[in-house]
Amino acid sequence: MLALASLSGAADADWARAGAPYADLAVLGGIAIDSASRDAARELVARGREEFLPDDPLAFVDAQLAALGGAPIRAGMNVRSATVDPIREAAAICADHDAVLEINAHCRQGELCAVGCGETLLRDRDRLATYVAAAADAGATVSVKMRAEVDGVDPSATARAVADAGADVIHVDAMDSEPLIADVAAAADAFVLANNGVRDRATAWEYLAYGADGVSVGRPSDDPTVLERVARAVTDWRGHEHRDADSDGEVPG
Ligand SMILES: Cc1cc2nc3c(=O)[nH]c(=O)nc-3n(C[C@H](O)[C@H](O)[C@H](O)COP(=O)(O)O)c2cc1C
Repeated sequence: MLALASLSGAADADWARAGAPYADLAVLGGIAIDSASRDAARELVARGREEFLPDDPLAFVDAQLAALGGAPIRAGMNVRSATVDPIREAAAICADHDAVLEINAHCRQGELCAVGCGETLLRDRDRLATYVAAAADAGATVSVKMRAEVDGVDPSATARAVADAGADVIHVDAMDSEPLIADVAAAADAFVLANNGVRDRATAWEYLAYGADGVSVGRPSDDPTVLERVARAVTDWRGHEHRDADSDGEVPG
């Protein structure tokens, strides 16, 4: 299973449609959905980063997912919030579109971390679990995007906690710690999507061999050559003798 991973300010419905011939899931966003995270996103824009900053972020989520109606790809939406209520609302919108609500516990920009978004959620496991439970209660398929190599954070314990709280998908940016995918897959009863540096057969198969159910591509997600190569590698993996017989390679929900 191949997914396209969020790129703030770039990953919209048009981006997802362009990747649809190759990928099974496109996670749009990330988008800031509460006032604190939106203030942080404005600061990021002021220093030159691209962000989605529509007047009404939840209406934007709804419109972007609606724009993918009928597209041959499952949609997801990566959201940032310092508070739980907007997560619940975004999850209800995702549920209406049969889309995956992805909680961003990944971004490391100082502006976002200062308001308690992104990777700070990994250090605040109870709040992260509250977000997951709220999104699951709203009826959405829930993914948590997390990253490895965050000081003081045990990725396996995080994965277990969010799966116990109701997460269906754990989307892990392994950074330079690829073997930890095996630990996360063993720790959590969830679909594991492995990310970082997936560009070809070798990098995709490395993650799949560690027990990932799928892989995702971020930066080159607009490059058909890379997507075609990775998509072929993932398809070939299914016939590979070492595949995980327990996984059908489909995102749940
Ligand atoms: C410009 C840029 C923006 C990104 N925005 C987000 C985001 O909003 N949410 C998120 O979870 N990850 C975000 N990421 C991380 C990517 O989804 C991905 O995890 C990372 O780039 C590693 O994968 P890759 O090596 O395939 O690019 C961003 C990455 C880049 C380069």
